[in-house]
Amino acid sequence: MNLTVEQGAITDIQAAVIMLGIFAGDDGIAGASRAVDRATSGMIKKITASGDFTGELYRTVLVYKTRGIKAERVLLVGLGKRKEFTLDRLRGAASSGARFIREMGLKQFLLPLSFVQLSTISSVNTVRALVEGIFLGLYAFDEFKTDSEKKKKKVIESCTILAENRQELVKIHDAAHKARALAEGVYLARDLVSRPANSATPTFIAHTAQAVAKRWKLTCRVLGEAQVRKLGMGCFLGVAQGSREPARFIILDYVPKKARTHDTVVIVGKAITFDSGGISLKPPQGMERMKDDMAGGAAVLGILQTVAQLALPVHVVGIVPATENVPDGAALKPGDVITSMSGKTVEIISTDAEGRLILADALIHAKHYKPAAIIDLATLTGACITALGNDVAGMMGTDEHLMKKIKAASEATGEKVWQLPLWEEYGELLKSEIADIKNVGGRDAGAITGGYFLKEFAGDIPWVHLDIAGPVWTEKDKPYIPKGATGFGVRLLVNVLENWRGMKN
Ligand code: BES
Ligand code: ZN
Ligand code: ZN
Repeated sequence: MNLTVEQGAITDIQAAVIMLGIFAGDDGIAGASRAVDRATSGMIKKITASGDFTGELYRTVLVYKTRGIKAERVLLVGLGKRKEFTLDRLRGAASSGARFIREMGLKQFLLPLSFVQLSTISSVNTVRALVEGIFLGLYAFDEFKTDSEKKKKKVIESCTILAENRQELVKIHDAAHKARALAEGVYLARDLVSRPANSATPTFIAHTAQAVAKRWKLTCRVLGEAQVRKLGMGCFLGVAQGSREPARFIILDYVPKKARTHDTVVIVGKAITFDSGGISLKPPQGMERMKDDMAGGAAVLGILQTVAQLALPVHVVGIVPATENVPDGAALKPGDVITSMSGKTVEIISTDAEGRLILADALIHAKHYKPAAIIDLATLTGACITALGNDVAGMMGTDEHLMKKIKAASEATGEKVWQLPLWEEYGELLKSEIADIKNVGGRDAGAITGGYFLKEFAGDIPWVHLDIAGPVWTEKDKPYIPKGATGFGVRLLVNVLENWRGMKN
């Protein structure tokens, strides 16, 4: 979809459809909708007065060919109650409107910046939320549909954003394109997660990382099994040893032209391209979903691409250990003891607690960069879904400043996180008779013992773990997240990095 920003009067511009926001209640018609209402002799007021459309959140109504405006149609989108309004609702409203327009088969639409007018939201934040909502909401994954079916799909060709104020044009244009870049980062993550495991292999993910690096001028290093063996990554290799798909340890390094701080931030993402559980085999029901066990790694690729595209002034390194977890004659077994890159030994209780094993070596490797902070993203435990539900990531860590930054980003992006404790007592549950630590702490506090295991490898470096097992996939359509892979984590951490001014600022 082509995205342009223009300046002009809403009533004078030709368009297949204009999208307008209407709040519920007496003062629902404002900004562009008021201008259109006036030019059309009170058409919108008539509609709301009739009770046919009350501005109910995300509801839409289409009006045809009215006198007084150049556009052929007007689409009203409900914004709900004015005082309950949030940026997240704005994303959702923009998405509902755009989806309706696509369903109609229309190819082009006009979106006035005063779609919503609120003193509490700046024009830059408005345009960002609108563009994010539209692109995120229109996402579809059709790579594996045959061509004839693909062709049947309707697509909108262009969206024109209308700014009233000429002075703001450059700023609005810039904000719109930044939001689009962010949505593209989310698309990259969603595409990788949606892709089935027979296609999204560790090799495929490594090739994708290399393509991203080439396109956006990052450096990418891909280590094969012989190289990680030399480095002593016994935990990562332990998980990989049962698979015929060669494992890959992927490192993306973004060095800014101008840095705002000397900090290096490392983002680590779990990429189990398929988690069967290994010898501790999972029950068959719903196992097809375990292709999404690489969503942390996918988000890291999306984050690094966006950070480079936006040229953020901070040094960011992405680390993605990628392998399958499948049973085989050579596979890791419960009771086995393996040695991590730091020398710490691990007793395997369940081969299905594999994410923490590959992350252990990745976290140790991350420390080589002497980072100011490490953040990991991992679909680590079913227990986190039991604790917090499907829409929320569990957050654990060793640094309150870093967690505060992530909470602020969560508020701004609508990607929900909730903190869980890592009190020392939980460490008792991971004591092993035979090795330094075991990889499962029993049934209690499963999300936390997963996090605690990682803490043992993150050591003294400020570190936060995000257990994203729930929110990386949605079984139902959400306002601006279609059913399926969500790309969770990309918007959250790009926001953290955009606002990075040092650990304590
Ligand atoms: N990838 C899973 C976690 C998961 C489960 C994500 C369900 C999404 C939905 C992880 O590798 C795993 O299997 N964890 C085990 C840990 C247990 C053996 C301690 C789990 O959650 O059951
Ligand atoms: Zn598992
Ligand atoms: Zn897993």
